[in-house]
Amino acid sequence: MKATAVAPSNIAFIKYWGRKDEVLRLPENGSISMNLSNLLTTTTVEFSDALKMDTVIFNGRKETLVTNRAIKHIDAIRKLAMFKTKVKIVSENNFPTGTGLSSSASGFAALTVAGAAAAGLKLSEKELSILARLGSGSACRSIPDGFVEWKDGKTNETSYAFSLYKKEYWDLVDVIAVTSTQKKEVSSSSGHILAQSSAFFPIRKKYIKEKIALCKKYLQEKKLQKLGELIEAEALELHAIYLTSHPSLIYLLPETLRVMHAVKEWRENGLSVYFTLNTGQDIHLICEKKNAQKVSRLAQKIEGVQKTIVNYPSDGARVIEKHLF
Ligand code: PMV
Repeated sequence: MKATAVAPSNIAFIKYWGRKDEVLRLPENGSISMNLSNLLTTTTVEFSDALKMDTVIFNGRKETLVTNRAIKHIDAIRKLAMFKTKVKIVSENNFPTGTGLSSSASGFAALTVAGAAAAGLKLSEKELSILARLGSGSACRSIPDGFVEWKDGKTNETSYAFSLYKKEYWDLVDVIAVTSTQKKEVSSSSGHILAQSSAFFPIRKKYIKEKIALCKKYLQEKKLQKLGELIEAEALELHAIYLTSHPSLIYLLPETLRVMHAVKEWRENGLSVYFTLNTGQDIHLICEKKNAQKVSRLAQKIEGVQKTIVNYPSDGARVIEKHLF
């Protein structure tokens, strides 16, 4: 009973921040994202009676925090499959972890798909998305293909993600500028709990449905300028909430700010590119494919940018044949 899956990370255009149910990981609001072709987690899961204990090897190492979170998720899968067989998990990311590139999204999507397949469960895309959400909220958006919407829902069964458009729909590109590979101090999983402590959070909640509707409209019309302005404002709002939480969350580094200023300058010079940010210092530059190489070249010239990773829209999580062990 061994299976392997590969899953993309995703970049949220409208962010998930704050939870209305901690245990079920029901988000305060819906969100919209694009799956990313070059931020991938590959995970092999094996259930076997020959194993004496559960083991998790992530990026070649055993780490208690990672192990505990992964085994908690595997326990949910074992419960569904109605067995207690021990598990071995080997998982690898092809990109930096814990720097704002949403490795928990690809990580829990890959673990869900590989774990369910290894357990012999035949789950629908919706069921896989629900299961992935229980591991990490944003992971539910890495299950369906392409451009994705996650409905907040009121119950476990009604909070899941689905595809709005396949990857071929629009040749948008996310050029990521990696500014530092230093891991953030507060993970997004823990950060969500602080959302309510910002005085600005109620204001965000008031306008979020309107924003989601606008985001879907601009996606449908393929209007990059409108979409870009919206997602950039959304990223700044997210960081305004971080900065005004108690305790405050400061993820922006000098390098990140330099890229933010540069993007505004490039736009003034006619280059159509917009930034967005997650919980971390790395910065996502959204543009069309025709401008991707130029954006990547320009970003690499900024002091403190270590490298860029160019991402196209991607399929969601899927089972693959090649195992990691
Ligand atoms: O799924 P989590 O707990 O890693 O939270 C993701 C939070 C953001 O990346 C900031 C926003 C999002 O919607 O991806």
